[in-house]
Amino acid sequence: MTGKGLEDVIAAQTSISDIDGKMGRLFYVGYDIHDLAPHATFEEIIHLLHDLRLPTETELDNLNEQLIAEREISPFIEDLMPTMASQTSPMSMLRTTVSAMSAYDPDGWDQSERANYRKAMRLIARFTTVVAAYDRLRNELEPVRPNPKLSHAANFLYMLKGIEPNDEDARTLDMCLVLHADHTMNASTFTARVVASTLADIHSATTAAIASLKGPLHGGANEAVMKMLLEIKDVSRAEEYIKQKLAQREKIMGFGHRVYKTEDPRATHLRRLSQQLGEQMGDTRWYEISKKIEEVVMAEKGLYPNVDFYAASVYYCLGIPVDLFTPVFAASRVAGWTAHVREQYADNRIIRPESEYIGPRGRKWQPIEERG
Ligand code: ACO
Repeated sequence: MTGKGLEDVIAAQTSISDIDGKMGRLFYVGYDIHDLAPHATFEEIIHLLHDLRLPTETELDNLNEQLIAEREISPFIEDLMPTMASQTSPMSMLRTTVSAMSAYDPDGWDQSERANYRKAMRLIARFTTVVAAYDRLRNELEPVRPNPKLSHAANFLYMLKGIEPNDEDARTLDMCLVLHADHTMNASTFTARVVASTLADIHSATTAAIASLKGPLHGGANEAVMKMLLEIKDVSRAEEYIKQKLAQREKIMGFGHRVYKTEDPRATHLRRLSQQLGEQMGDTRWYEISKKIEEVVMAEKGLYPNVDFYAASVYYCLGIPVDLFTPVFAASRVAGWTAHVREQYADNRIIRPESEYIGPRGRKWQPIEERG
């Protein structure tokens, strides 16, 4: 019997990303995240994860052109959006619209390698469009058409707010997208690979991955972190608040990780971004509260913050609504999910583990009138 929660089980071989949990290192296709975060754009990371190498200038131009051309959603999804905006929560909207996107994908049910690549780029390009349209519609505003002159990150902020972001905000979000793009066999990526391993289509695998990311133990934690910061409100209340939660044996969202036994390297960058953004805005309150929580959780439990902890205050300072934090995570992770799905298809065997039966044995059928 393996550990509960498949701890330490190697579920797949991959060339996409790698973690050294003891040393707190993360690599995309051999590049250290500390090297990528300050230099790479999200578009370069999409190329890296899908083609397993950084793009040349021409390749990046071509990819940009392809992503920009794919940003517009189909009339079918456009018609669906007002209902989604009035009836569903953001992650449910994303899960449902991505599932619905399969109906009108220009490549239809073509499962060839090239068609799946195009579908992947289409999915990556359109996540931000539906998230922004959803937010505009629920606020009784017209959705903003994508701006082909803007990068993926800048265009998202533009579609969300209706005004072009400044360069600092655009680059901050771009770096967040770089940091969240892939992370080995996390729950949602594993889910995507399990679905792909049945040879179900890439939209099905991606829809399942969104469902998996939604939970508060996975991608849903960033939203829960911000709600906690808002509840604490002032740094002077942080220590007592956290100690009380821990005394009640509650988990502190944004802390702990299955693989990292030390600092999550993504948290290092997000902590810095949180401080920088706060200083630029002249309000470091959310950073200060976060730092205090980090200190208390370390002293009390010896736990490090994970990617979701400082991402919360960064997204908040960028003016992203709290309930869109997890969809923004998904808008980045879709690059990794789709790369893993394509990798699974390329060398597939159905993922079908064993279970250990612990129920009763040897029971005999009883007619219904004899059951007590
Ligand atoms: N707060 C308080 N205690 C914690 C926390 C936490 N955030 N995380 C772990 N612990 C404690 C557990 O209570 C457990 O203690 P025990 O042995 O005394 O019972 C011990 O540390 C081990 O924790 P597990 O939950 O068994 O660790 P696991 O590897 O199964 O779970 C997980 C990892 C889900 C990330 C967990 O740490 C957690 O629930 N964190 C909070 C939610 C969160 O931030 N999720 C985002 C993770 S990053 C991502 O998915 C993008």
